Amino acid sequence: MRTSVGIVGAGPAGLLPRSRQEIEATIRAGVLEQGTVDLLKQSGVGSRMQREGFVHHGIYLRFARASHRIDFPSLTGGRAITVYAQHEVIKDLVAARLEAQGKLLFEVKDAAVYDLDTQAPKVRFRQGSKIEELECDFIAGCDGFHGITRPSIPSRMRHEFTRVYPFGWFGILVEAPSSTDELIYAHHERGFALVSTRSPQIQRLYLQCDPDDEVKNWPDGRIWEELHARLESAEGWRLAEGRIFQKSVIAMRSFVVEPLRYGRLFLAGDAAHIVPPTGAKGLNLAAADVRVLSKALASFYKTRAEQPLKNYSATALRRVWRAEHFSWWMTSLLHRFHDETPFHHRLQLAELDYVVSSRAKAQTLAENYVGLPLD
Ligand code: PHB
Repeated sequence: MRTSVGIVGAGPAGLLPRSRQEIEATIRAGVLEQGTVDLLKQSGVGSRMQREGFVHHGIYLRFARASHRIDFPSLTGGRAITVYAQHEVIKDLVAARLEAQGKLLFEVKDAAVYDLDTQAPKVRFRQGSKIEELECDFIAGCDGFHGITRPSIPSRMRHEFTRVYPFGWFGILVEAPSSTDELIYAHHERGFALVSTRSPQIQRLYLQCDPDDEVKNWPDGRIWEELHARLESAEGWRLAEGRIFQKSVIAMRSFVVEPLRYGRLFLAGDAAHIVPPTGAKGLNLAAADVRVLSKALASFYKTRAEQPLKNYSATALRRVWRAEHFSWWMTSLLHRFHDETPFHHRLQLAELDYVVSSRAKAQTLAENYVGLPLD
């Protein structure tokens, strides 16, 4: 088989050997930046998102027994976010690709990439009992953090930067009416908690847990007890309970590889970088990478220009590191670091207080959260 651009991976991290059904059902984050929304619209895959997504104009920061609203439009010149789950974006992209007669291969096994430093890089894989080879002009490595493309770059050509956090997130999906009109990020002595949503009937909630925690340690009663304690510190607000139908533990890490290119392989999304979910940047960063990469590829095919492809790594990394910093900052601000001193905790509270009392600091949060303009 031959193609111009071979894409390894088709959505959320590490999905090579998975079925379309599994990929479309994987629960991931749900916050789209304005730039991501615009990109999806321009790409002709925005209509269901526009119908079913929820536009939010702010978030709540809750700490020290009070709730504070960060208003996005007034701090960012009218920008907002859209809550629309990542797996819904994937469904729309898969449907559009199939409609355009694009070729998508699901449930591919043993994928490997070869000849990356030649003019004809290749993807080899197994489908059922058949071994296939796809010869390409370029390969896009979009196969997630655990994928095979990044490790195919020789280690001496790869610089990796990592931070692992001393906690994880326990996430649940609940059948319940929503308790809030906008997301609540709560800092509490017992740990961080977050209230998000999927629909008027389905809510997404998280709480900080041990990094090695397991679902079996969290019977429903314990989950509700922690959520009530961490979230109901503000006067008069109550969290609505409901049937919990999904539980999972999410690891928290920051990671970047440099550069994002080796020969004719270009890395994008989680294959290249991971952010902790606190800033809701993961999917948005992947979309920004692919926007830069697709423009560079388009100009190569139009005019044989090589420069935009050569610039891809540096251009994408600039945004990546901004988002890495923001996600690290939000994570550091909002979680309890149980191995830190009381001095550190007082600093966190001082900074939270500054965020909700200084327009400059609130604006820093807001402009990063809604997303800086795309280049
Ligand atoms: C989610 O809705 O799953 C979600 C929202 C905001 C975050 C992370 C996850 O920061």
